[in-house]
Amino acid sequence: MTNTGIASIGLHLPTLAMRVDELATLRGADPDKYTIGLGCREIALCGDGEDVVSLAVEAAKRALSRWDGDLQDIGMIAVGTETAKDMSRPLSAWVAGELGISGQVRSYEVKHACYGGTLALRQAVEWRLSGAARGKAALVIAADVALYAPRDPGEPTQGAGAVALIVGEPTVARVDPVSYAWSEPAFDFWRPVGQAFPSVEGPLSLDCYMRAAESCFGAFAEEHGGLEAALNDLESVCFHVPFPKMVKKAVRHVAERSGWDAEKAAEFYEQKVDPTMRWNRVSGNAYTASLWISVASALAGRPIGKRIGAFSYGSGFGAELLLLDAGPEAATGAWAADVDVDLSARQLIDSSAYNELRA
Ligand code: COA
Repeated sequence: MTNTGIASIGLHLPTLAMRVDELATLRGADPDKYTIGLGCREIALCGDGEDVVSLAVEAAKRALSRWDGDLQDIGMIAVGTETAKDMSRPLSAWVAGELGISGQVRSYEVKHACYGGTLALRQAVEWRLSGAARGKAALVIAADVALYAPRDPGEPTQGAGAVALIVGEPTVARVDPVSYAWSEPAFDFWRPVGQAFPSVEGPLSLDCYMRAAESCFGAFAEEHGGLEAALNDLESVCFHVPFPKMVKKAVRHVAERSGWDAEKAAEFYEQKVDPTMRWNRVSGNAYTASLWISVASALAGRPIGKRIGAFSYGSGFGAELLLLDAGPEAATGAWAADVDVDLSARQLIDSSAYNELRA
C-alpha cells in the first residue's frame, strides 16, 4: 500500500522571457543586485494568448502523453495555484474542460500560496494510500504566473510555469508517506480579493521561510540521528525557489542551527542543492510550480532507488519536507525534453517590449 508516487511528469514554460540584467538597466538598479544578490538570471513571462490555464493544460498534456494510462483512469484532478481566475469556480474546471475530463472525478483547486501544489500532491498520494482511489490515478498540477507591481522589489523574481504530475504507480518516483509539515499564521505575503498584485513584507517573508526550513529539517533530523545522518541519505535536496539566494540562505540557516560551520554548509549547498535549480534560473519564481520544477530537474537522470528531499514553502505560512525515491523511469528523464523545447522556442524580450507587456 505504501507503493504510490509519481507515474509521469510534464512541464511547460511560457513563450517569453527577459534577462534580469536587462530589467536592472530599466529600473536603474545595479545588475549585480539581481544576478549576484538574488541569484536570478531570466524571468519567464506570458505572451499573447497565454495564461495560467494554457500553461497548466500544456503541462498536463505532456504528462498524459508519456503515461501508459488514459483519461478514464483519472479519478482526481487537483490544481495548486495562487493565480486563481475566479473566487468560486476552481482552476481545475478550466483545465478539465480543455482536456475533456469529466464524470467520476474529484476536481478542485488548492490554495496556500506557493505550497498549494505540494498540498494537492500530498492529498493525491494520501487518497491513493487510503484505498479511496480504487486503483485510479490523480492528475496534479502546480501552475502560476507570478507578477509583481512594476518597480516592486519582487519584480526581478517574477516568473511563470506549470508542472503536471500523474500520481499513480511510482514509476518515476515513490513518494514517502511520511513527511514533515510546519505552519504558523503570518502576514508575510498576501493578495486581498480584487488586488492585482501581491503585498509583500519582504524581510519577514525571508524570516518565515528560514524558520519553516529550520522546523521541517529539524523534525526530519530528529528522527534520523541528526542533520548529517539525515542529509547523507539524500542525493539532492530541492527547495521552493522564490529566488536562488533565498535557498542558499535557508541552507546556511538550517546548517548553522545544527552546528555546521560555513564551509561545510557551502559544500553541501554546492553539491546537493544548487544543481537542482538549473531550470528555476530560467523560469523565475513560478510560485506553486517552483519546487516541482526543481524536483523534476533533480529526478531527471537519477538512478533507481536514489532518494531526494523536497522542501515546500507557502506564505501565510505553511511548509512541508517530502522524501521521494527515484523509480525505474527517472533515469531516462523524458520530461527534460519539455524544458528544452520551450527554451529553444522562447523569445527573450528587451525593456521596451517589457514596458508594453506591463502596460
Ligand atoms: N551587488 C551585489 N549584491 C547586491 C547589490 C549589488 N550591487 N545590491 C544589493 N545586493 C544584495 C544585498 O546585499 C542582498 O543580499 P543579502 O540578503 O545576501 O545581504 C540582496 O542583494 C537583496 O538586496 P535587498 O536590498 O535585500 O533587496 P530588496 O529589499 O530590494 O528585495 C526581496 C529583496 C526578497 C525582499 C524582494 O525580492 C521581494 O520582496 N521578493 C518577493 C518575496 C519573496 O520572494 N520572499 C521570499 C520568501 S517566499
